[in-house]
Amino acid sequence: MAAIDNGEINRIQQSANIVEIIGSYITLEKKGKNFFGMCPFHDDHNPSMSVSEEKGLFTCFVCHKTGNVFSFVQEYENISFIEAVKIVANKVGIELDTGYKETSKYDKHYEAVDLALKFYQNNLKSQEGLNARKYLQTRGIEDEIIEEFNIGYAPPNFDTITKLLTNKGYDEQLLIETGLSARGQTLYDLFRNRITFPIHNPNGKPVGFSARIYEDLKEAKYINTKETPIFKKGKILFNYHRAQNEARRVKNLIVVEGQMDAIRIYASGVKNVVATMGTALTEDHVKLLKKLNVTIILCMDNDEAGEKATIQNGEALTNAQVDLKILRLSGAKDPDEYILKHSKEEFLDAVNNSITYFDFKLNYYKKDKNLNKVDDISKYINQVVKELNKSNDSILIDLTVNDLAEKYGIDKNVLLNQIIKVETPKISKIEVRKEKKLSKNQKLSSVLLYYMMNDTKYIKLYEQELGYIPNEEYLEIANDILAFFLKYNYISIADFITYEISKDNYEKVLDIVDANIKIELKDAEYVGIVNKIKTWIDENKIEELKEKLVSVSDINEKLNITNEIAKMKKRMCQNEES
Ligand code: CTP
Ligand code: MN
Repeated sequence: MAAIDNGEINRIQQSANIVEIIGSYITLEKKGKNFFGMCPFHDDHNPSMSVSEEKGLFTCFVCHKTGNVFSFVQEYENISFIEAVKIVANKVGIELDTGYKETSKYDKHYEAVDLALKFYQNNLKSQEGLNARKYLQTRGIEDEIIEEFNIGYAPPNFDTITKLLTNKGYDEQLLIETGLSARGQTLYDLFRNRITFPIHNPNGKPVGFSARIYEDLKEAKYINTKETPIFKKGKILFNYHRAQNEARRVKNLIVVEGQMDAIRIYASGVKNVVATMGTALTEDHVKLLKKLNVTIILCMDNDEAGEKATIQNGEALTNAQVDLKILRLSGAKDPDEYILKHSKEEFLDAVNNSITYFDFKLNYYKKDKNLNKVDDISKYINQVVKELNKSNDSILIDLTVNDLAEKYGIDKNVLLNQIIKVETPKISKIEVRKEKKLSKNQKLSSVLLYYMMNDTKYIKLYEQELGYIPNEEYLEIANDILAFFLKYNYISIADFITYEISKDNYEKVLDIVDANIKIELKDAEYVGIVNKIKTWIDENKIEELKEKLVSVSDINEKLNITNEIAKMKKRMCQNEES
């Protein structure tokens, strides 16, 4: 998983009290042996996250998120494992050698994008980049901001970056996979004669570009990196990596459409801003925003499309129970233009006067109507009532109903009769890991592995008595547990999660922990499980033998197989009786 030394991670984990670390993010209260708090990974209404100091684990009984101190910090802060280790180290006062690097199979991809970024960046400063520089100047983008955002210039030639990277040893497939080059008759650069805006992932690594024309050309205004293994559009927001800490500090984040808008706002000193880059917010975007646990101020462009985007994104965010405000700017097409026309101060005033999403919708529904006409009034009121029916806020309902009654001369009771009280909101769909339906044998395996993760005596017994589970997934995890035990000569779930399991098995192990965390370990139970798995193995063998029986023709061999089946069945009966 990481190039960071296991001994070092171990030292950090030993020094970190999971209750204290998680307690620095959420309020925990002791109940019995464990601590409980509101789960930050779903919209929690009762404290459903339990933290066990003894086990070094946290688990949510509603959304089923489970893990150790590092995975909590990783999830909460939405950062990489190494970053989480660094934060925990920092919290417990351990100095980490810097320079630890995370290795992944996409290291070369990241490297290539980073090289391209640096090349474009330098190229903007060259003679070739003069006109692009001038364009940025006319738009009031200062050198400092050009530097901070790593803005660059892609040369007009056919294959400058392709050649440069090829000469450095990057092969064709990689260049195409990063979206830097494309294949025509020969390999060519995707970005040519454009100003390049690097796009970073939430960890701050550059993963792609949005590239703008700067001359009056009849071409698409922006060309963006296509979907690549390291650039998943639906998971990336422009400037998120720079904005996240500031957003947490000031407890809100401004979301705009264009990167130029984000850059302008940032340059004026408001650093808690991200851009959607013109697309609608996806479920993953919403997750990313929800994790910050701050108010989202949605500030889409000042046109019809921006209004529609406000509704679409507003629905996605409110469905995920994100605290939401709407900012509509007037007299300018977008925030960039607004700040240039007015001032940073006026923009800040506007931010402070953002309205609720509910109020936005009330205004929005008025737009296409003539509220002097009975028809339109009725349409309008029905739309408002529909909105009220989504709300749990009885004060808001009362105020709105009074207002409507007064303005449109309707009997308040008629309106109130239309309001159906909705039950407490459901848990956000996107946060909930589905509980999987397991077969009897899968459940047995899951419990077996949970025992093994808790005590080395169960690992030893597994080795002696079984050494095998007839299910590839579970067998792999059992082997991982064995490997951990052989290497470190002890077992702890929290440490096992950290060191030994592959990414693929991570979720499965967490599922196992979550499904079994409440059971009490009893030796006799374990022996029973081992025996049942033995029976399962025998059943499988019998099935195999039966298949073999059909396929062989030699009568002696058929007899042998039949005998063997009989013997196994007898043994199974004895097993069950004992
Ligand atoms: N966009 C895009 N391709 C286009 C047009 C727009 O990818 N052909 C994306 C860009 O990320 C852009 C965002 O949609 O930032 C918003 O588009 P728009 O409002 O047209 O651009 P601005 O952000 O206003 O850019 P500029 O001020 O440079 O014109
Ligand atoms: Mn603009």
